Amino acid sequence: MLRPPQHDDLRLPRLRIAPSLLAADFARLADELQRIEAAGADLLHLDVMDGHYVPNISFGIPVIEKIRGACGLYFDTHLMIMEPDRYAEAFVKAGADGITFHTEVVRDPRPLIDRLRRLGLGVGVSLNPRTPVTALNDCLADVDLVNVMTVEPGFGGQAFMSDMLEKVRALGPRLRPDQRLEVDGGLNRDNIAQAVAAGADTIVAGTAVFRAANPASALDELRRLAGYAGRCAE
Ligand code: DX5
Ligand code: ZN
Repeated sequence: MLRPPQHDDLRLPRLRIAPSLLAADFARLADELQRIEAAGADLLHLDVMDGHYVPNISFGIPVIEKIRGACGLYFDTHLMIMEPDRYAEAFVKAGADGITFHTEVVRDPRPLIDRLRRLGLGVGVSLNPRTPVTALNDCLADVDLVNVMTVEPGFGGQAFMSDMLEKVRALGPRLRPDQRLEVDGGLNRDNIAQAVAAGADTIVAGTAVFRAANPASALDELRRLAGYAGRCAE
C-alpha cells in the first residue's frame, strides 16, 4: 500500500517526540502502536539494522509493511544499513514517510537524496558519533532532517553521549526553520532539556517512552522538561 508522505508532520516548527519502535514489545506490536499513537507521539522512529553496518539486526521491510496498517503516525525510518539506495523504493512501498540514511555509507549523498525526493520521501542524513558535522557540508541544504547520533548506532538502551551536543549546537544555526534537527540515542528525562537547549527539535526516545509504565505520562513529562526552549520555540 502506498501512502502519501505526510511532509507537514516534519515541517511544522515545533518540538516533536519520536518513540523508537526498537524498545517496543515485538510480541504485541499492534497493541504497542495503538498505545503510543493514543499517548500522543508525534512520529514513529523505525530503527532498521542490517547486521553489517551495525552489529545488530532489528526488523525490515515486511514488518514496516504490516505495521503501516496499524498506525497513522509519520514513519521516520532510520536506515542503519549498507546500500540504502538499493532498498529505498521497497521502504517507500512498505510505507516509510521519511528515510534517514548514514552519510558514512555513501560516497556522494546527492544522487541518493535526489532519488529519495523523487520517491516522495522526507530525506534525512545521520551522523555517527565519530563523524564530524563537516561531512554534511555538500548536502545540508538539500535535506529535511539531520539525525545526530548520541549513542553508537546498533542498540537501544545505551547511555546518552552529552559531548554530541556540540554538534547539535554547530548545526542549529546552519539549518532553515523547515529543517529538523533530531537527536537519537539515550534521550530521557535527565537530558532532554539539554538537547533542546542545544537546538534539537526532534527527540527520538525508545526506552524512555515504550518501557515507561505509562507512555502518555512519559511523553507529557518529556515535553514539560523540554520546555520548548529550542530554536523552534518562537
Ligand atoms: C540506536 C538507534 C536509536 C535507539 C533509541 O541505534 O538509532 O534510535 O534505538 O533508543 P533509546 O532511546 O532506548 O536509546
Ligand atoms: Zn534511530
